[in-house]
Formats: sequence, structure tokens, C-alpha cells
Amino acid sequence: MSGNDLDSMDTGAVLRTGVRVMAKGSLGYRLATPLSIIAGLVNGSTMVFSAVAIGWATDHLIIPAFTDHAVPTRSWWIALGAIAGVSVLRVITIVTRAVAAAHVQYGNQASTRRALIRQYAKLGVPWHRRHSTGQLLSNVVSDVEVQWAPMQFFAFAMGSVFMLMVALANIARSDWYLAVVAVMLVLVVLLANFVYQRVMSPRARDAQRARAAVSSVAHEAVEGEQVIRTLGIVEDESDRFVRAAENTRVANTRMSFVSAAFDPVIELAPTATVLVVLLIGSGRVSAGELTVGTLVETIYLFLTMALPLGMIGRFLSVLPLAVVGNMRTGAVLDSVDYTQFGTETLNGSETSHGERALGVRVTAARFAYDGATRDALGPVDLQFVAGDVVAVVGATGSGKTTLVRVLARLADPDSGTVHYDGIDVRSLAAGEIESRVAVVSQTAFLFDDTVRDNVTLGRDIDDHQVWKALEVAEAAEFVRGLSGGLDAGVGKRGASLSGGQRQRIALARGLAGSPSLLILDDATSALDPAVERDVLDNIRREFVSASDGGRRCTVVMTAARKSTVTLADRVLLLDNGLVEASGTHAQLLAANAAYRAIVDAYADGLRS
Ligand SMILES: Nc1ncnc2c1ncn2[C@@H]1O[C@H](COP(=O)(O)OP(=O)(O)O)[C@@H](O)[C@H]1O
Ligand SMILES: [Mg+2]
Repeated sequence: MSGNDLDSMDTGAVLRTGVRVMAKGSLGYRLATPLSIIAGLVNGSTMVFSAVAIGWATDHLIIPAFTDHAVPTRSWWIALGAIAGVSVLRVITIVTRAVAAAHVQYGNQASTRRALIRQYAKLGVPWHRRHSTGQLLSNVVSDVEVQWAPMQFFAFAMGSVFMLMVALANIARSDWYLAVVAVMLVLVVLLANFVYQRVMSPRARDAQRARAAVSSVAHEAVEGEQVIRTLGIVEDESDRFVRAAENTRVANTRMSFVSAAFDPVIELAPTATVLVVLLIGSGRVSAGELTVGTLVETIYLFLTMALPLGMIGRFLSVLPLAVVGNMRTGAVLDSVDYTQFGTETLNGSETSHGERALGVRVTAARFAYDGATRDALGPVDLQFVAGDVVAVVGATGSGKTTLVRVLARLADPDSGTVHYDGIDVRSLAAGEIESRVAVVSQTAFLFDDTVRDNVTLGRDIDDHQVWKALEVAEAAEFVRGLSGGLDAGVGKRGASLSGGQRQRIALARGLAGSPSLLILDDATSALDPAVERDVLDNIRREFVSASDGGRRCTVVMTAARKSTVTLADRVLLLDNGLVEASGTHAQLLAANAAYRAIVDAYADGLRS
């Protein structure tokens, strides 16, 4: 994505973009930015002032001391006061500049990270499908870091530019010949910087890509740890990681070669120039055109110019990487692949206890995954009456999960529509669906947090409701057995619980919000058939049936076992993304051979 943009950027564009990013980042800091710049400028001036003071001391203290031995006390005091004053000013400005620059640098890091996280949340499922989790992690960690790295040198570099100009003016005031030498020195260093940027930019991009690849591979390895171990492919996976790490090493080394060759040029150029200055300067002193003090002052200036030139060099050296980082975070921040929302609301009662079930209608819905040659779903037409308990049955890959995603608007169909109570789900306001629809999938993701927080997920749900959801999910008993009960921690990804326990916590999470549409996608696969049956019975009794005889919740569940399919009011048979048959379990059993084959397979313990 961003690589091509960088390829088309010349060195000037990298510089302009980098400085623009830094300037933009500085704008938000009304106090820290001016403070760091003023501190930078004052600090730059103190260096020139030191040179002037040393030149003055040479002419008024040192040379007289060698010649007539009569140095007025006043001169000593002036020299002492100047040096002490400059030192104090330097300490103050160095500290101020560093603290203020850090404030701006880390403040920008934090706000870019917040913006990225908000954007990740806003971007739709199709966008997330196209970007790996490792990629997202490296955007938020290392890209943000390199993007704002130059900030620590920004004020310093600006102070340095100022200092260089004052220094040049000062040299020009004393002697034009030496001024020409100084200007040439600055030009040589700028040229070196120019070359450096050209060589560095593509290497910086490669290094940043290699870093992102490491985090992608690492993320997958951690995520797929169990698969990797059980398939015995630890070696292969390690190789993959070693290769990614090696690529990063090579890319980073290639970068450091460049800076290693460049740093001495910046460091030594001013020192080497001093020899030239001595040569020319001593001739000028002999000719009576220059005092010794001014020559000393000029040499001191050349030597101190190494510092600002080096600082400008360091700023420029981290700039290409920052431009790459900025492009990579910008690519995320500029995406507009949002899920679109409307303004309609589902007019159920607001209280969590009196909700009505949602009716669901699917019309001519088709869905194909990116790059797939055939549709994973559809076209399908379905109608779920409010309060229906529907089982969706079908072989692995028949499209059950895809249907569930479309039903819950985790994906919008490529064509066709989904309506809740007659309202197109795309015209519902943001948050409407989440507040009324719960999806529980096979892989229950638990956070490294307490049981309570894993059930409520920060929603306004009291302990009474939490316990009720746990009871219905047949989880209350084992939770009571945990030390701490609701306050017990579940460990990383729920590591301290069994697979069945994790599933039941996830079920309770889905139930705790008293949904009007509950979608269970293989959500009970890790439970004993008897427990599964109890859970479904409980759901029917506690969440579906209302006291007035109506229904509070529509339930759609996939891939239940034979024993649980019989608990559904209706069964849908999916095949190759199409509805093959629908009816009651008894009707399908009597009329459909494919259905008989599948539920018999379920009975044998084969599940999709
Ligand atoms: N993320 C995906 N990318 C591409 N193809 C997918 C993806 N998820 C599922 N599919 C394909 O879509 C079809 C339906 O899959 P799915 O809905 O998961 O079936 P089921 O849940 O019934 O096992 C399958 O052919 C599957 O390979
Ligand atoms: Mg599935």
C-alpha cells in the first residue's frame, strides 16, 4: 500500500512530508511546543555566545597576560560572569527542551494510538478480513513509534538551524574568507544528508515491513499454538519465525550500514574544516586582518557546529522511517471502509425484562467471500417468526456460519436484504443490533479478567442477572466452586477453565443482555449432550417464554446434535449455501434422505 507512495517520493518530498508531519504534531501543544522551540533557540544562541566569550577572553585576558601582565580585575569578573551565566542558561534550556519535546513526542504517540484504536473499531468486517491482526498490532506499536521518533530532535534541530545561521553571521562579521569556508562546510554536510536520505528511505521502508512481518508471524504462532503443537509443526513454525526475524535483522543492518558510513562524515567534517580555518586564519592574523581572539572564536564556532550539524543529521536520519510510519498509520486512519448505519430503532421495550422477540426475514440474500469463485451463501429466502426456535443443520462448509454472520449483520449480503421486524438492518442506528442481538460462537473468547466482567463486558448488568444467566447456561455450579466466585479470574483466554466451562461462560455472556434474537453458532459443541439439552431447555423456559404466554426471544442455533434438533420448533437444512429443506424435525426426517443422513451422522458423534 504505502510502499509505492514512498517509491514515488523524491528526497525533497520525504523532507517536506516529514517536517509537515512534525509541524502538524507540534500544533496541538500550545505550551510544550513554543517552550521547546524557545529553549532550542536560546540553547543554540548560548553556543555562539560561548564562542564570543572565549574570543573576548583571548583578546582581553590571555594575550594581555602574556604581554603586559596587567589585566584589570573587572575583565576577570566579566569573563567569569559570562561563562557561569552561559552555563546556567544551557542547563536550563537543555532540560526544558528535552522535557517539552518528550511531552510532544509521547503525547502524539498516545493520540495516534487512540485514533487507530477508534478507527479499528469503526472499520467494517471486510476491512478487518483484509488485514491481519499482526499488521494491526504493528501499526499501533512500531509504526506509531517511528512516526513520532523525530519529534525528540525537532525542536533541537530547529534551534540548531538557528544557531548555524547566527554562527555564520558571526563568522561573516569577523572575516569573509572564513565565512566562505563555513558556508562550504554547511553545504557539504547538507549534501551528505541529501545522499543519506536517498539511500535510507527505501531501506527504512523495508525494515518497517520486515518488523510488521515479525509481529504477524508471532501473533499467528501464539494464536495457533495448540494447532501447531498438535500437528507437530513447531519446527516449521519456528523456521517461519526465524526467517522473519532474520529478514528484520538484515533490513536493520542495511540501515545501520548507511548511518555508520554517514555519522563520521557529519562528525568529522567540522573538525577537518578547522585545519583549513587555521591555515587561512593564521595568514589573516599575520596580515593584521584578524585578531587572535577572533580566530579562536571562529575555530571554537566551527568545532561547536559539529553539534547542531549532527543534530540536524539525526533528525533527518529518522525522518524517512517516520514518513513510512506516517504512511502506514495514515493508510488505516484514511480508510473509509466503515459499516454504514442508519437512524432507525427497534421499538422494543427499554427495560431488560420485558423485551419482545424479533421477527427476522431474509430476502434473496447472497454472500461470497473475497476471492472465492462461488457464493458461500444463497440466494436464500427465510422467515423466522418472532419467538421461533430454529435449528440450522448442514454439513461442514454448507454455509451455516455465513448465514449466522449475515443474520447478525456481522457481514452484509452482497445482494438481498435482512429485516428485523420489517426494518432493513442497514438502516438501524449504530448500537441497535448489539443491544438486541447476541451471537455466541464456537470459539469462546474470554478476556483475562473476572467471571463477572467476562459475562457483563462492561454492560450495565447486575449480579442477579449475571447469576441467572450463569444458571441458565449451567455454569452457576462450577462458578460457585471457584475461589472468589464471580470475582475469580479466568486467566489468559480463560486458560484456567475447561473448554466446556469457557463455552458456558460465553453462553451466559450472550444471555445476560436478555437478547431478543439469540444466535448460537456451534456454541454448545463442547458440552455433554445431556448438559446441552439442559441448557437449551433452560433457555426456552427462562429466556424465550414470556409470562403472558408470548415469546421474548427468537433463537437460531446451528449444528445441534440429534437430541437437540428435536428441541427446535423448526429445522432448516442447508446445502452448499442453499436452503435444501425446512420444516419440523419429524417432517424432515420423514421426507428428506439427506437430512436423515446428517442427523444420523450427528448421532454417531460426527459434528460439523
Ligand atoms: N473467511 C472465509 N474466507 C473464504 N471462504 C470462507 C471463509 N469462511 C468460510 N468460507 C467458505 O464458505 C463456505 C461456507 O462456510 P461456513 O459458512 O463457515 O460453513 P459452516 O459453518 O456450515 O461449516 C465454505 O465453502 C467455506 O470454505
Ligand atoms: Mg460453522
